[in-house]
Amino acid sequence: MSYYILMGLGIAVLLAFFIHYLIKFIKHKSLYPFMPFKYNFRRRRVTFAKTLELLSDRKAKTIIETGTSRKGLSATRGDGAGTFVFGKWAMQNNAKLFSVDIDKDAVQECKVEVENQNLQDTVTVLLDDSLNFLANYKDQVDFLYLDSYDYSRTDTAIQIASQEHHLKEFKAIESRLHKDTIVLIDDCGLPGGGKGKTVVSYMEQKGWKILIDAYQILLVHNDSL
Ligand SMILES: C[S@@+](CC[C@H](N)C(=O)[O-])C[C@H]1O[C@@H](n2cnc3c(N)ncnc32)[C@H](O)[C@@H]1O
Repeated sequence: MSYYILMGLGIAVLLAFFIHYLIKFIKHKSLYPFMPFKYNFRRRRVTFAKTLELLSDRKAKTIIETGTSRKGLSATRGDGAGTFVFGKWAMQNNAKLFSVDIDKDAVQECKVEVENQNLQDTVTVLLDDSLNFLANYKDQVDFLYLDSYDYSRTDTAIQIASQEHHLKEFKAIESRLHKDTIVLIDDCGLPGGGKGKTVVSYMEQKGWKILIDAYQILLVHNDSL
């Protein structure tokens, strides 16, 4: 009798392990084979994948990211590690990525990882206010990734400040965008509308079209469609 109970318990434990790892596997959103399978991009996978496809289709050469990957490549689930995803794409496609951040520790952390990933000839990490950097940037931009001023799920004042900052970023660089420019905005699917709420409304009035509206919002110009 106890033999059957032990066997039943054993099977139940094995089954629980199996289900646990099956759920983990299903929830794991990798960008494999572009990035190693172990990296989980979760809610950004769909928009990152489409952006990578567009970057290749449109032969992007210049990428700007506001808000750098302050935790290196380890934060694919949290911040997204965009500097390294798009930096890797840029390296493989002879493009350049400029990532600007106002926080010196974030810049320092990111620079270390840029070296670790051997991206130093492709990715430039700059310490500056994004608004200042964008206003002084003189070349055309093929891909703009807006992901700076940290958003809050609960604090309305921070939500509005973040939304206004991302609108200002867009306006500061707008004259450097062209009909094939790709724009991605992070942290949109959040209470209060996320980082993109104000800037996306403005962009839509200016002829931009939403391609994907998920956790991130991906836009291209109507003239490119
Ligand atoms: C969410 S993180 C960026 C994550 C990164 N894009 C990634 O994919 O891993 C936001 C960053 O924006 C930076 N930031 C906030 N305000 C800024 C500003 N005015 N100019 C530039 N960077 C700013 C913060 O210091 C922080 O490091």
